Formats: sequence, structure tokens, C-alpha cells
Amino acid sequence: MKLSIFRFDPDRDKKPYMQDYEIDPETDRMLLDVILRIKAQDDSLTIRKSCREGVCGSDAININGRNGLACITPVRELRNRWCCAPCRASRSFATWWST
Ligand code: FES
Repeated sequence: MKLSIFRFDPDRDKKPYMQDYEIDPETDRMLLDVILRIKAQDDSLTIRKSCREGVCGSDAININGRNGLACITPVRELRNRWCCAPCRASRSFATWWST
């Protein structure tokens, strides 16, 4: 399964881009788990999180064009290829996706 993640570091990148990651949908239950697993391998990726219960909203992201919370989005409900980007209302998307 392929996951495309929005990336942008204004200090390094001329423009935003999507970075693809190959993931195993059987390994993790929730999208946040997948992103944290990728972050463990790619330290330049950043995401906010706090409660992991769908309460605080800190991990709100745009998933295949719809806003949602990564911590309560089951991987099994997603299609073969999915895209994650900051919510359109977020002003701080650069700090979400790159360090
Ligand atoms: S981490 Fe709090 S809503 Fe997802």
C-alpha cells in the first residue's frame, strides 16, 4: 500500500511536494501509528499528537481530500493509495510535516 505525505520545509524546499512511502496495512491499526512508524525511520517528518483518543484534535489532517483525525482513522478503511496533507484551515502546515 502506498502512502503519499505532503512535505514542505521552507528553509530547504522551493515548493511543497508529495513524498511516497510504501507501508504494510497489516502492521498498524490506525493512520497515526503508520505516520509515527514512518517518522521513526525518517526523522525529518513531524506530526502533532496528544491524546490519541480523538479528543484533542491535534493530529487533524486531510486524508484523501477529507479532514479527519489520524488517531481514529483505521488503516483498513483506507484505499490502496492514500494521501495525507495538512487540513486546509491549518496555517502551520510547514511545522506539521517537516522539521
Ligand atoms: S491525538 Fe488527540 S485527537 Fe488525535
